[in-house]
Amino acid sequence: MQRVALVTGGTRGIGHAISIALKEAGHKVAANYAGNDQAATKFAAETGIAVFKFDVADFHACESGIKRVEQELGPVDILVNNAGVTRDVMLHKMTPAQWQEVIAIDLGSCFNTCRLVIEGMRARGFGRIVNISSINGQKGQFGQTNYAAAKAGMLGFTKALALESAAKGITVNAVAPGYIATEMVAAVAPKVLEGIVARIPVGRLGHDTEVADVVRFLVDDGAGFITGSTITANGGQYMT
Ligand code: CAA
Repeated sequence: MQRVALVTGGTRGIGHAISIALKEAGHKVAANYAGNDQAATKFAAETGIAVFKFDVADFHACESGIKRVEQELGPVDILVNNAGVTRDVMLHKMTPAQWQEVIAIDLGSCFNTCRLVIEGMRARGFGRIVNISSINGQKGQFGQTNYAAAKAGMLGFTKALALESAAKGITVNAVAPGYIATEMVAAVAPKVLEGIVARIPVGRLGHDTEVADVVRFLVDDGAGFITGSTITANGGQYMT
């Protein structure tokens, strides 16, 4: 069945692949982005997917952004919280701004978007929410107290909302990708990254499509018995 899907951070990186996968699955997709107009325009032209600019860290911006999505495409039945940033630095050098930015964008966004779509999903008796967490929220990572805290927070958020939503036809799951070949991972110093890849049993970085395929599976109408789960896609780097 064709549904309306909102993918935050949906024009670049893993979100780019998720938006395309959901379109290929037959859904009407809204790809949110925050600032990179050039990438968003190129993405929209190449894919035919509608793009919506708003800051997921800002509740009121989400309110007007999601309203625009619903006016143009219809009520959001599928929500993928993918938007995220890193500000990697050891805690003893971390500024309050580096802490707050990551918590607000990566974790605060989940409250903002879910809060704004959950009442409609409950009223319609259907919803699929997928939160893109990270291997580093599961195992911790040097230089990422902010990011690991946000990504671990998403896992608790996922389970609590799954419990609240289970009786209403809404599933809430998390995907925890490992190191995927995206701009975010390319920003890690080459020497540091070399050491990380050496510890991935599959022997390579992941592909964005390998995460998108998990999301496509979780949002399918047939996946209604899977809720509160965290699915890892990390090449065997961390087994929970
Ligand atoms: N474990 C233990 N010690 C480590 C270490 C590690 N993983 N990494 C570095 N160290 C040590 C270094 O050897 C160094 O020791 P000495 O002072 O004795 O030489 C000390 O810690 C300081 O290290 P750096 O010189 O690297 O410190 P820095 O301040 O220049 O850089 C950093 C810190 C920016 C956090 C850098 O270590 C780094 O980039 N780490 C990788 C962070 C990472 O994996 N980010 C993932 C981004 S992608 C992503 O997050 C997507 C996803 O979901 C997976």
